[in-house]
Amino acid sequence: MKTRAAVLWGLRQDWKVEEIDLDPPKAGEVLVELKAAGLCHSDEHMVTGDMTPPEEIAKAMGLPPTYPIIGGHEGAGVVVEVGPGVTTLQPGDHVAASFVPACGRCRWCVTGRTNLCDMGALTFIPGQISDQTNRHHCRGEDVNLLAKLGTFAEHTVVNEASVIKVDQDLPLPAVALVSCGVATGWGSAVHRAEVQPGETVVVVGIGGIGINAVQGARMAGAKVIVAVDPIEFKREQAQVFGATHAAASIAEAQALVNDLTWGQMAEKVILTPGVLYGEILGGGLSLTGKGGTCVVTAIAPITQTEASINLFELAMWNKEVKGVIFGSGNPRFDIPNLLSMYRAGQLKLDELITRTYTLDQINEGYQDMRDGRNIRGVIVFD
Ligand SMILES: NC(=O)c1ccc[n+]([C@@H]2O[C@H](COP(=O)([O-])OP(=O)(O)OC[C@H]3O[C@@H](n4cnc5c(N)ncnc54)[C@H](O)[C@@H]3O)[C@@H](O)[C@H]2O)c1
Ligand SMILES: [Zn+2]
Ligand SMILES: [Zn+2]
Repeated sequence: MKTRAAVLWGLRQDWKVEEIDLDPPKAGEVLVELKAAGLCHSDEHMVTGDMTPPEEIAKAMGLPPTYPIIGGHEGAGVVVEVGPGVTTLQPGDHVAASFVPACGRCRWCVTGRTNLCDMGALTFIPGQISDQTNRHHCRGEDVNLLAKLGTFAEHTVVNEASVIKVDQDLPLPAVALVSCGVATGWGSAVHRAEVQPGETVVVVGIGGIGINAVQGARMAGAKVIVAVDPIEFKREQAQVFGATHAAASIAEAQALVNDLTWGQMAEKVILTPGVLYGEILGGGLSLTGKGGTCVVTAIAPITQTEASINLFELAMWNKEVKGVIFGSGNPRFDIPNLLSMYRAGQLKLDELITRTYTLDQINEGYQDMRDGRNIRGVIVFD
């Protein structure tokens, strides 16, 4: 079939919205009509190159080129057609995208750590999960999919493992947000930082991920939540989602947290800036008190190997640093569970959407993200 998608043809280019050819789903795959897609910062890393394997490494591994690629991994839509062997979904089902596949069979899935599903190893290998061939084509070339999803498209074909069935009465923009930003941010606070009632939590970077770390920390019972962001609008929004204090920089937060905790510093620090650099990890650890935990959620440039941290304090203050993917959650449990909390009025989702865009306005949406104008921008398909 013919459909339309936002394609990135190379580094530092704009997304190009154009007609693509989409093959029918093969065994284990489904055709999804997208209804909403969130503009997460992770897609931006494909534009800047922060998440692109360097050419020499790609060559050494014999990888075909990363570009052209259809962006988008935060999304929701309706199943239109299922390929042979698909038993858990049928046409008409509403689904959330899952940027980590959930195969249900590997060691990680069966031990409740689906965020580490072995199928995720194929993320940087072009083509579909099943056979590494492409269903998407444009201008006569095969087109890859970000996180095996490609939600910046009117339709996409994905593996059954990459979509999670959700209740049909839920608004699909809200479902889309849960599929990455909410699950990641909320889970960073609740699952990975394991925020406890009465704790002091600092969240650095208030975008679609950080705002949900604030929301998760509030729901877990934190007493003090300090939101750190240079942009005033972000600091104000954080207070709507439960932040008790705000600071414009890590340095400003150090003085504030020092005062608030009588020098003990924070029990939990969650790092969610747009891009993680070494000095942000160093700053995050300086906000972390004795026995505290610093959770690294933001994505660093793929070749970044250096961070300056005080190694003496790391040991003597018994601190820990933890990485996190998909909020350390299980998509097949966490996505429906978060949506059930939204239904119960406990989790704010509609309020996360600052602006909506058409697919054709995607570059405007990303410019607004770069300019710090959105908590989350969302593409809504007609
Ligand atoms: N680990 C995962 O599973 C996972 C999943 C999704 C997204 N991410 C990553 O999380 C990060 C955040 O994504 P997002 O969509 O919320 O981004 P965003 O661009 O919407 O928000 C980032 C915010 O960080 C602020 N910021 C930038 N530098 C800062 C600094 N030094 N101190 C304080 N604030 C700073 C910006 O002003 C902005 O408000 C990205 O790196 C993204 O790729 C990780
Ligand atoms: Zn994302
Ligand atoms: Zn698995």
